[in-house]
Amino acid sequence: MGENQANVATPENQLNTMSNIVILGAQWGDEGKGKLVDMLADRFDLIVRYQGGHNAGHTILIGDRKFVLRLVPSGILHPGKTAVIGNGLVIDPLALLEESEQLRAAGIDVENQLRISNRAHVILPTHRLVEKISEAIPGRVAIGTTLRGIGPTYEDKAGRRGIRMADLLDREYFGEAVRQVIADHVTRARAFGLNDVIDADEIVAKYSDAAEKLRPLVCDTAVLLKNAMDSGKNLLFEGAQGTMLDLDNGTYPFVTSSSACAGGASTGTGVPPTKISAVIGISKAYITRVGGGPFPTEALDDQGDLIRKRGHEFGSVTGRPRRCGWFDVPLLKYSAMLNGFESMVVTKLDVLDELKQIPVCVAYEVRGKVTTEMPATVRDLADAKPVWETMPGWQSSTEGISNWKKLPQAARDYVEFLEKHTGVEAGCISTGPERTQTVVREGSKFQAVTS
Ligand code: IMP
Repeated sequence: MGENQANVATPENQLNTMSNIVILGAQWGDEGKGKLVDMLADRFDLIVRYQGGHNAGHTILIGDRKFVLRLVPSGILHPGKTAVIGNGLVIDPLALLEESEQLRAAGIDVENQLRISNRAHVILPTHRLVEKISEAIPGRVAIGTTLRGIGPTYEDKAGRRGIRMADLLDREYFGEAVRQVIADHVTRARAFGLNDVIDADEIVAKYSDAAEKLRPLVCDTAVLLKNAMDSGKNLLFEGAQGTMLDLDNGTYPFVTSSSACAGGASTGTGVPPTKISAVIGISKAYITRVGGGPFPTEALDDQGDLIRKRGHEFGSVTGRPRRCGWFDVPLLKYSAMLNGFESMVVTKLDVLDELKQIPVCVAYEVRGKVTTEMPATVRDLADAKPVWETMPGWQSSTEGISNWKKLPQAARDYVEFLEKHTGVEAGCISTGPERTQTVVREGSKFQAVTS
């Protein structure tokens, strides 16, 4: 190889030198990111969340112990790893305290393993009040949010009147600042006829108390991450929600209010984009959605019910039944394009085990025109009729299989069909909730990035 060629980064050599990677949801959330992050955490030094709040819920099974983590990155379950809550998150300090107490009770070294950005924004109880109103305004379509105060807190952030963790720790500043924000929320609530009793003093007291408990964990996490990278440590960024819930690129307005796409990993942590080496998208072998909004491949029949039952498709935060449907190729392709992933993890393949036939949406027909592009408006997306191709099912158990060759031929054909139509490698396949119930494809980009 000539000298000039040696410096050219090919996809292969880029992948082999990777150190900081993003794992994110490629669909509408709940793809099984928690299991993947947990599986890979041993190979990274810091596990970093970059957006969202306690609207997320990652369920991790370790032996017979089940952990549902909402705010704290699941890497904290690995001794010696640092879990970082980046500046892009919105934090309910009381919810965070509760979660950290549970972790302490399970023997996790929270003091040494958890760090929280001093620039993350603080969710107040009145953010939930404002959300309750906006979800119930007559004549306005409800988004179907988790009612955790996420959207209104990001609104205050964008409106430049938010309270950040550093403000919460500033005893002199916090009380006055928070009273102003609360007064604003209460005025809006009263205008809509809500008469909930709000005691600002009580909120200030509770939050100030929480602040003292959290103080030792709060720091400038951008500096922490820079120093970690300078000393040769690797970062694993853990996305929450999913690409189609991203505020900018998702199915707006039926989205969350944060940047769930790969770009959020940079803005939500202070780590420059040049330091992020690869992105892996997580996608179910089918698709689900919680809350409102158009869903072209939704299965509103008994097949949808079967998936919900076999896949335990109920929200881990709100307990709401998830809407279930078939794999959507245009959506996945769009997601891969936005995030730049070339390898995906296909999760919950075993949920499809009983099906005779599996429909896959390979294109949409929108107002009489066939397209593989994602419509920009929810009106067009609601009008999109899937163009189906149907794959034969395998009707045998794939549960727990960890070797590609041991999967039934029809299951391999199904996965290869998804790869062919999306142009994205399925480098890893999950066949159950346990870490061991996973197929890693030999020679895949996934393997190169993660080993
Ligand atoms: P919010 O994030 O509570 O504002 O909710 C906005 C939309 O995102 C709603 O449709 C929620 O159901 C959805 N959503 C929020 N968090 C998650 C999640 O972790 N998984 C799946 N959907 C979510």
